Amino acid sequence: MKQVISPLILALLSILPTSAREAKEYDKDVNYDDRKTPHYDLPPLLVTSQGQTITTADQWHHHRRPEILSLFSNLVYGRVPEPSDPIKMEFEVVKTDSNFMKGKATRKDVKIHLSNKNGRISMHFLVFVPNEAQKPVPAFFKHSFNNTQGKDFDASSFRAGKLKNGWPLGEFLDRGYGFCAVYHQDLVGHNETEFLKSVHKLFYPKGQSFPKAHEWGVLSVCAWGAMRGMDYLETDDDIDHTRIAIMGHSKMGKATLWTAAQDERFALAISAQSGCAGAALWRRKSGETLKKMVTRFPYWLCRNAWKFVEQEDDLPVDQHMLLACIAPRPVYVHSGVEDTWADGRGEYLSAYHASDVYRLLGKKGLESEKSPPVGKAIIESQVGYHIREGGHSIEKYDWERFLEFADYHLKGSSK
Ligand code: GCU
Repeated sequence: MKQVISPLILALLSILPTSAREAKEYDKDVNYDDRKTPHYDLPPLLVTSQGQTITTADQWHHHRRPEILSLFSNLVYGRVPEPSDPIKMEFEVVKTDSNFMKGKATRKDVKIHLSNKNGRISMHFLVFVPNEAQKPVPAFFKHSFNNTQGKDFDASSFRAGKLKNGWPLGEFLDRGYGFCAVYHQDLVGHNETEFLKSVHKLFYPKGQSFPKAHEWGVLSVCAWGAMRGMDYLETDDDIDHTRIAIMGHSKMGKATLWTAAQDERFALAISAQSGCAGAALWRRKSGETLKKMVTRFPYWLCRNAWKFVEQEDDLPVDQHMLLACIAPRPVYVHSGVEDTWADGRGEYLSAYHASDVYRLLGKKGLESEKSPPVGKAIIESQVGYHIREGGHSIEKYDWERFLEFADYHLKGSSK
């Protein structure tokens, strides 16, 4: 019976005028689980730990933001230690294919070599530049789950404007964007537990073989790696490194936010369903919680974070403060209705609360505590957002919104 009714309802809906359909969408309650989450008080964004209220941009930039970043470094993601011996970084363009996709783009394979007396490790950095566009081009920069040296990125796997992994590379290039990617496992394993082969070895002093409690977890390593990609971009004349949109999905969305929060060279950030340790608020304890995360992935965060398992209210930060550290640069948050593990409502609230800092800095943020209707994107605001039907993935609808957001904020229409 159900199967008979739902197509019927769908058919009826499709003949309703657009305004009625939008109203229908608006009725959908994307705030559904607020009642199920515990009461919580967020740490104040605009009051320092010494109790000073922040009222100016200067106070934000010089006092509160550094303080918040230090708390995230020491208690959540882990600090990048001082290397025991200075690290030498070399860029090597190992291959250039100017005829990628029948001449649409130039693909550059770059090796970023990192070395010191403790050893050497190299990461691969992939750069696509649209041949027709005027250089330097703005670019998307993806924290990638897919191995950038794998077949997913071959010209032969390119079909209907998309790479094998579904990324609409053709669309990016046609719209005048470059596209770059770093692979998350080049410097550290996905769920590393030993840290013997990872980039850590370059940093350890004699006798150390494991990160200290406040030292970098896996996500911090990914963020550090992306910054090395940015170091390379600063040397590449084809790419406008002042107009880079960093992005990532899920674990890579978490890494994206942590990268952009720390490194102001990234002009814009897109968090796709980053959830726990990404955009979602810890204190809601909805979907994936700190406990669930550190049980399954003990070293994505630093070990200090373990102390807050089931004690989230003691954390001096919550994730709205991470997003706020990106201000005034545009940030976009994307959720999925069925992706309850990533807590779409918590992701929205985080973006909403971070908006206080955007407003302090004279930018537009999210105005309403209520999540927007499903499928209605907020683009013309420095804090952008959408939630769409469906689960944990990046779909065509999402890519289109990301491009719209980047067009609006990186290509000038917002200025
Ligand atoms: C797991 C993990 C999430 C993460 C996701 C992903 O589900 O619990 O935190 O976002 O993997 O990276 O796809």
